[in-house]
Amino acid sequence: MSNAVRRIGVLTSGGDAPGMNAAIRAVVRTALHMGIECIGIRRGYHGLINGDFVPLDFESVSGLSRRGGTMLYSARSKEFMTEAGQDRAVATCKLLGLEGIVGIGGDGTFRGLLELSRRGVAVVGIPGTIDNDIACSTNTIGFDTACNTALECIDKLRDTMQSHERCSVVEVMGRHAGHLAMYVGVASGATCVLVPERPVDIEKDVIEPIRRSRLGGRTHFMVIVAEGVGSAYDVAKQITEITALDTRVTVLGHVQRGGAPTARDRVAATYMGYESVRLLTEGKTNRVVCVQGDTYVDYDINEALSMKKGLDEQTYTVMQALTGVGSHN
Ligand code: F6P
Repeated sequence: MSNAVRRIGVLTSGGDAPGMNAAIRAVVRTALHMGIECIGIRRGYHGLINGDFVPLDFESVSGLSRRGGTMLYSARSKEFMTEAGQDRAVATCKLLGLEGIVGIGGDGTFRGLLELSRRGVAVVGIPGTIDNDIACSTNTIGFDTACNTALECIDKLRDTMQSHERCSVVEVMGRHAGHLAMYVGVASGATCVLVPERPVDIEKDVIEPIRRSRLGGRTHFMVIVAEGVGSAYDVAKQITEITALDTRVTVLGHVQRGGAPTARDRVAATYMGYESVRLLTEGKTNRVVCVQGDTYVDYDINEALSMKKGLDEQTYTVMQALTGVGSHN
């Protein structure tokens, strides 16, 4: 292990995700273990531009694994998208003597790290987003917790939908990706799941599964809509127009981003935090730490950003078999 690195910074950027705190804790504790000082940069790249920082010691990250959100705050910085903003961020790194930055977030965070790296700062990214849309990693930190949070809400909705024999239309987050919707749909035994990665035909993908379910004896229905497909209100309107079912819309929204992280997210965040510091101490830069199955690996950030993550075909096939969605014949 090289002792060349003396001080690093850690930041969280973009939408927060449960497990980010556990990753911060792991970065700080690993750094201290390796004789490296760790500075928390608050409010993501906005904070890096403005010199908004907090020195982090062993005790300051104590008890953090179980806490949702991010103790460093998060932001989406418009200024950092400009050359001037990026120059100012690098000037802060120089002023504080930060020899490396660990950035926890999604693809926007990684693009930001690339800009720092182009200007000579060593960087490592950790994928933290509930959307699970980082291609090089099977799972991103926060995805598992968000799935469980959404599932808990849907299970509760199901009780009241059953009592009133209604059709629930639930919109889940995921930005342009349907991973969250699909996993939650499979886990909750939804009537159908609509994802942006596949064309949506209301008659075949929604009405027909509802019909099949009704013919099977069911009198309440659960339709999951990924936000990337469009508004759950539009889907509900069409269901009511065609079937006259009593529909209710629930947009789960930001509740999916909160809560204590699951064991899986905490462990992944901890491993990734450890790996990120280890890479910096080995003189590596421009890397993303990710998990493939149960194995932790790292990728060049450019390569990671150029990779495309499709829907998990196996899960989609299972979902199709159980709901009939996508069986356009
Ligand atoms: O990327 C995470 C995410 O929660 C997406 O699922 C969602 O589209 C977006 O962030 C919401 O962003 P904001 O918190 O800015 O409303």
